[in-house]
Amino acid sequence: MAIRNIVKYGDDVLRKKCRTQLSFDEHLHQVLDDMAETMYAAEGVGLAAPQVGILRRFCIVDIGDGLLELVNPVLVSSSGEQCGQEGCLSIPGKYAEVKRPMTVTVRAQNRLGETFEITASELKARAILHEMDHLDGILYIDRA
Ligand code: CO
Repeated sequence: MAIRNIVKYGDDVLRKKCRTQLSFDEHLHQVLDDMAETMYAAEGVGLAAPQVGILRRFCIVDIGDGLLELVNPVLVSSSGEQCGQEGCLSIPGKYAEVKRPMTVTVRAQNRLGETFEITASELKARAILHEMDHLDGILYIDRA
């Protein structure tokens, strides 16, 4: 594993729409492992592929309850509303209040390409949506 450089605000890469991840091979596993190491080293709760310069649809989240890897995630449903502080490893030292759904259900693939669904609420829902936004070039400051 290796710590990767986190792309910072102002870089065009963060504004691009990412493409579907088609292969579930050793290369993907290496990138996902590196992203986890990078996220933990930076003490973040999530990291998306474009933040390490890769324009593909995958991201990771860990709010302290274990690592979640989402490849090609799609929002299935959302309900409720929450307001809370958000930050981003690509925008260091800045935080803002963002309104998000309280609960979300997301369908995604794991690193082996197997499809699964996850339902999450509160901080975990917020983190998942924040990272999924990155895959479409959207930053939390756009929603603040
Ligand atoms: Co972010």
